Amino acid sequence: MFWYKFLVLLHILSAILGMGPGFIMIYIVTKATTLTELRHAYLIRNRLHVFVMVGGTLLLLSGLGLGVLNPIYFSAKWYIISLILFLIAFAFGPLVLSPRSKPIKELLNNTMNTETIPEQYYVFARKLFFYERIENLIFITIIVLMVLKPF
Ligand code: HEM
Repeated sequence: MFWYKFLVLLHILSAILGMGPGFIMIYIVTKATTLTELRHAYLIRNRLHVFVMVGGTLLLLSGLGLGVLNPIYFSAKWYIISLILFLIAFAFGPLVLSPRSKPIKELLNNTMNTETIPEQYYVFARKLFFYERIENLIFITIIVLMVLKPF
């Protein structure tokens, strides 16, 4: 029972530390009005992303650990669906989000001698944020499944 309780605690702390910053990643960069502000906003975003990666990994490991300690979960639909959704969301990072954030990083690094945010930035950002919102919806779905355990 001790290890089960320990893993639940780790799971909840990881959810707060990992998912909390994840949900505000878009919000952080939307108020920048100059290129310097935008660069700084992306710096903060990158630092917060470490929390998302560490928290996300701990969520998966502690969630699997809870399943090992209580194997009945492996036949519960809420658990299996959450696991599949989580793995899809995990793969989203390198496969979908990373290629769409690369042009933004290049644009921020290569635009010199101006404080005006290039129009092209908004085009790239719109595409990236669209997929980030899908990612957020997946995480909200998982939280609902975790808390309600409806089936
Ligand atoms: C976005 C990712 C996740 C979030 C935010 C999250 C959040 C939560 C929360 C808030 C609870 C407590 C619910 C309650 O007891 O009322 C919980 C429980 C649980 N989670 Fe997750 N979770 C996530 C991913 C996962 C994954 C991927 C697994 C499986 C590999 C998992 C396995 C479990 C299990 C087994 C419990 C039940 C603990 C218990 O009630 O004793 N979770 N989760």
